[in-house]
Amino acid sequence: MRKRSIVIFASGSGSNVEKIAEYFADRSDVEISLILSNNPKAGVIERARRYHIPVLLFDRTGFYQTDQVTSLLQKQGVDLIVLAGFMWLMPVPLVQAFPNRIVNIHPALLPKFGGKGMYGHFVHEAVVGAGETESGITIHFVNEQYDEGQVIFQATCPVEPTDDAEAVARKVQVLEHRHYPRVVDEVLQRLDLQYEL
Ligand code: GAR
Repeated sequence: MRKRSIVIFASGSGSNVEKIAEYFADRSDVEISLILSNNPKAGVIERARRYHIPVLLFDRTGFYQTDQVTSLLQKQGVDLIVLAGFMWLMPVPLVQAFPNRIVNIHPALLPKFGGKGMYGHFVHEAVVGAGETESGITIHFVNEQYDEGQVIFQATCPVEPTDDAEAVARKVQVLEHRHYPRVVDEVLQRLDLQYEL
């Protein structure tokens, strides 16, 4: 069987990238072939180095006004694109080149607390501010709008009246690390089924 290739887009610390890299480290059938980032200072770059995964940095102009990233990913024969703390909207041509092959993780229960500007701590602050009694994670396919693609998986955690945004963030991160690698694997296996049809 051909090795499946994953590429990951990340802008931040990269803790989810690390969990995904750990999960697939012993797998001969799956390779994380590249990490793409818009942030030269992102913690994910050091983590990628530790796992010997190449990193490609790009800027806003290169991402939105050229097709360099899309054509590179097409040339590389990428099977699945994983967003793990990537904060920019995916350009339309990139989404269209990889239908149902881009997955994102969002740190709340979509459709609540999604959309432009809803990322990282802003999400948890909004959840606490709204007096929610639960939060969680949503793993979904990516379409042309922020956080609106088809939901693949959700998991919840309680929000206690005494929880602040940091407390919610910690609970949500536990869920992300527990589930994202496994769900990415499941999406990959489903791609294999589609190939066999
Ligand atoms: C994660 O909580 C992820 O859900 C969130 O960024 C964090 C990245 O953490 N993504 C978004 O908010 C996207 N809208 P990490 O860099 O430690 O993996």
